[in-house]
Amino acid sequence: MIIASSRGVVSALASRVGRQTSLLSSLRLQGPSQWNRAAVSQAGRCWRAAYSSDHKPITINQKTYRTDEWFNISPTVLSLTPRKLHLQKDHPVYITRQIIESVFPAPTFKTYNTLDPVVTTHENFDSLGFPPDHPGRAKTDTYYINSETLLRTHTSAHEAALFRAGESPGYLISADVYRRDEIDKSHYPVFHQMEGARVWSRADHGENLATAIWADVEHLPKHDMNVEDPNPAFHAERNPLQERHKEEEAAAVAAHLKKSLELMVYEIFTRVRASHAKTAEKKEKEEPLKVRWVEAYFPFTTPSWELEVFYQGDWLEVLGCGVSQQKILDDAGVPEKIGWAFGIGLERIAMLLFQIPDIRLFWSSDERFLSQFKGVSDDLTKLKPFVPFSKHPACYKDVSFWLGGTTSSAAGGNDRGVQQWHENDLMEIVREVGGDNVEDVVLTDSFQHPKTGKRSLCYRINYRSLERTLRNEEANELHEKVRGLLVERLGVELR
Ligand code: PHE
Repeated sequence: MIIASSRGVVSALASRVGRQTSLLSSLRLQGPSQWNRAAVSQAGRCWRAAYSSDHKPITINQKTYRTDEWFNISPTVLSLTPRKLHLQKDHPVYITRQIIESVFPAPTFKTYNTLDPVVTTHENFDSLGFPPDHPGRAKTDTYYINSETLLRTHTSAHEAALFRAGESPGYLISADVYRRDEIDKSHYPVFHQMEGARVWSRADHGENLATAIWADVEHLPKHDMNVEDPNPAFHAERNPLQERHKEEEAAAVAAHLKKSLELMVYEIFTRVRASHAKTAEKKEKEEPLKVRWVEAYFPFTTPSWELEVFYQGDWLEVLGCGVSQQKILDDAGVPEKIGWAFGIGLERIAMLLFQIPDIRLFWSSDERFLSQFKGVSDDLTKLKPFVPFSKHPACYKDVSFWLGGTTSSAAGGNDRGVQQWHENDLMEIVREVGGDNVEDVVLTDSFQHPKTGKRSLCYRINYRSLERTLRNEEANELHEKVRGLLVERLGVELR
């Protein structure tokens, strides 16, 4: 899923697209993090349906949907739709939600935590101003039920509906979101996001709108964080003001947005530090918290920013946000309103809060995981780092293959069903076969044959369960299945 265009890249192959990221800074924000991969993801049009070629209807959360040739959701991903970790008391995702909700109190902010994950392409993309050819719409990036229906890729899919409902001046959504993606310790096809928004109405304040917003800024609690904000509130080319916004109005909205989110990050990272202090061997003198605002791009906000936190020696992206595009408010029937929105990934924050080393753990029903968080929802001061229960041996297996046809025919598809290559299709097969027994998948070699023009790739799959030791035969069996499906579905030629 690619939405923003100016971000660090979350990938085992980060170097492929430019910037090498550390594990922490590559933790999924779920995340604008992977949203600038436009350069590497243009594929998806010729994807051959791997699941249910008979287009049987499917049922998700008690509702039945028709499927068509766009359907691409594996049974594993479907089986996760009822889990809703953000609603499971004492689960780290639930606790993280609680902490964020505490910064945005009712009644100004109404919470929506049970919105259905099945949305229309209109809600997920069009209503937010995504262009028709935006790569985030590709089947390689998004789980489709049919050509018009999908599993939401972000909580922003509900913006228009909630602006239209207008039940409160602000809202907070928390929800499961779905993206086809690579496999490593910080990526999972299902994760959780929170979205927040706050609007003001010209009908209430008329010419005094900016003054009224500034008064709200003044009422926000104070913090003593060190904030770097080197850029102007808007910039004609890089981060433009909207046509219908007066400078002083947009500046006031931006100030309220930034202060509110600084407070949220202050709350989270104060807790991260307090939790780590419980186990830190030698207490180092803590430096004051430091954050910085970076200009960003989202189709549904302008100006837009990301907030980064200086954490353990690295700048870490925490959230994406901006002044909501007026067109979204117009279309929602509230053209007189102006406001801001932000989105944040919960797993990424939870991994920091609890020092959880692998994103697969969130889905574990192993008591050795779940029991460690008992009682924290009712008393957040009990929050402490997770103690890993065991590390089972890794089992690496390589698979190398030629892509079907020459590079050009592979890119265009042909009548043998050879499709345009996209790594996410391989990742899906590995997830389908290996499930949570795969820790990560890394491209270890790629070259083009000088004569035939064919491209060869080699991936290294690390089979390792979090819960038990995998036998070599078991890993071999999984690996054989992966190899078979790569040939059958993606038309590759094994080497
Ligand atoms: N939906 C964006 C994401 O998933 C985050 C975002 C929300 C950005 C709202 C701006 C405003 O990354």
